[in-house]
Amino acid sequence: MKKIKVGFIGCGSFANMVHYPSLTEMDDVEIVAICDIDQERLNNTGKKYNIDKRYTDYKKMVEENELDVVYIIMPPHHLYDIVIEILKRKLNVFIEKPPGINLFQIKNMANFAIKNNCKTM
Ligand SMILES: NC(=O)c1ccc[n+]([C@@H]2O[C@H](COP(=O)([O-])OP(=O)(O)OC[C@H]3O[C@@H](n4cnc5c(N)ncnc54)[C@H](O)[C@@H]3O)[C@@H](O)[C@H]2O)c1
Repeated sequence: MKKIKVGFIGCGSFANMVHYPSLTEMDDVEIVAICDIDQERLNNTGKKYNIDKRYTDYKKMVEENELDVVYIIMPPHHLYDIVIEILKRKLNVFIEKPPGINLFQIKNMANFAIKNNCKTM
């Protein structure tokens, strides 16, 4: 079975409460690498879900790993630059609600996704 390769940015509370546990339960999903600027959270999540590839720089994570989709789970005021960067690299993106802090950001994300043929959720 081909597994969907996930890169995950954000090792915070909601991510650990919901997304890491659900992705881990899916047989056709592999969390390949994770990233957080907080080293302690990064290591705690890595240990808990047995993920050895850990990064504090998300650009390095996407450059060094072949990924199908990037989960970006953090509060909306941190999302925009990262989401645009990931979409520019033609990777599919999963984010939580709310997707941005204003309509401009959200429309721009949608435009980049359409332009680069990315699936988004
Ligand atoms: N669906 C719902 O009902 C629901 C409920 C609660 C929260 N949420 C959403 O979940 C998200 C919050 O997730 P959380 O609770 O896991 O957030 P959090 O603030 O606990 O964690 C965010 C993590 O991202 C890291 N981070 C910030 N900038 C980074 C960067 N540039 N590179 C790498 N890591 C970086 C932080 O160090 C932190 O560990 C929000 O979008 C919120 O709206 C949704």
